[in-house]
Amino acid sequence: MEKIVIEGGHRLEGTVTVSGAKNAALPILISALLTDGWNTFHNVPDLRDTRTIKRLLGDLGAKVESSGSVVKINAGGLNNYEAPYDLVRTMRASVLVLGPLLARLGRARVSLPGGCAIGARPINLHLRGLEELGVFISLEHGYIEAHASSLKGADIYFDIVTVTGTENLMMAAVLAKGVTTLRNAAREPEVVALADALNRMGARITGVGTPVITISGVEALKPISYHVIPDRIEAGTFMVAAAVTSGNIKIVGCEPNHNRALIHKLQQAGITVEQESDGLRVVGTEAICGVDVKTLPYPGFPTDMQAQLMVLMCVANGLSVISETIFENRFIHVSELQRMGADITVSGSAAVVRGGRRLTGAPVMATDLRASASLIIAGLAAEGTTEVSRVYHIDRGYECIEKKLALLGGHLWRTQA
Ligand code: EPZ
Repeated sequence: MEKIVIEGGHRLEGTVTVSGAKNAALPILISALLTDGWNTFHNVPDLRDTRTIKRLLGDLGAKVESSGSVVKINAGGLNNYEAPYDLVRTMRASVLVLGPLLARLGRARVSLPGGCAIGARPINLHLRGLEELGVFISLEHGYIEAHASSLKGADIYFDIVTVTGTENLMMAAVLAKGVTTLRNAAREPEVVALADALNRMGARITGVGTPVITISGVEALKPISYHVIPDRIEAGTFMVAAAVTSGNIKIVGCEPNHNRALIHKLQQAGITVEQESDGLRVVGTEAICGVDVKTLPYPGFPTDMQAQLMVLMCVANGLSVISETIFENRFIHVSELQRMGADITVSGSAAVVRGGRRLTGAPVMATDLRASASLIIAGLAAEGTTEVSRVYHIDRGYECIEKKLALLGGHLWRTQA
């Protein structure tokens, strides 16, 4: 097993380029199942999760070819409708194959993903929506057994805003008979990107980016060439890393409009964030102010940036209250940060952070993807050496994060644990 060792106290300076968005690439790669012929996807990040999806698509009978950040997929030979437990348990986004398999084959057998570190993460809303499209679903031996003679449009309301629930139902509805309406739909940029890709394939989706999405079913979709949007969470992670080290960096290839809530909070905390002609400039300061944050569905503050921002609040002056409203167990990083000297008190879904403390390096353990990122950021800010173990969590969602941060002047490296 590997760990990342960080020597703190070094300012980040220079230029970093953002990779393609993991949470856009996963559904877009899966959408290839809806077509015959060769799709070409550009700017696909090389991550554990994208490699898992490529393997799953191959197991379903698609041809998959990769070269760097270009992935070609041909699902003409789709001949299997099962997503097995050993794959789904490692990456819950595999449940996104449900919609396309039912749309193409009228059949799917997908392992229930189970919970994960940050919460129970049920998929009841995915399943209820599919049933409203005419799918028969039973749960047997830990698997979702789903079949439908044909899918027909329906008016579907999500009790809770769900990103992959919106994506799954969108992909199920594009080949359904008639019109489907998704109400209280997710508005994340990754959902918009998926709808853009599907429309380029010939789907008829309107309203995406608003709470009401309308999908008019079509007969068939055609393969496309598509460029994946930049990863707003990777970009946000670099912004916070610059901020906690009083650094001065330029982030190339990001889309600031996808990060307005985070940028607003960083500016409120005293960080300079400015658009330059060829990238986003982020300049830290010694005088960081504590700010209150509540995570919300997009365009609210992203839950995937909560752990990273908490580190900034640990070194800010004053108090901040961080409320996590999306997942019921997304403060796992707190105990590790406390081992580094952070003063954080958790009460239910809120964490009160008392800043003004100098973090000190320590051996810590990653527990989930974004918590891992927060521990690396804490190591950059801390006095002394930090060792982050179980870094396989971070490799799920960041391409060579330690190399990118080292190119910015961070003193960190990967080694055997
Ligand atoms: C997506 O997960 C992202 N993953 C997550 O990113 C992100 O944190 C999350 O959206 C929220 O923005 C991908 O896109 C692959 P949800 P998803 O369905 O779709 C509840 C990362 O670090 N819910 O929007 O699984 C659920 O329990 C990952 O990159 C139900 O109750 O999240 C949660 O409380 C972590 N029933 C809330 O809704 C359902 O059927 C939002 O979950 C579905 C969801």
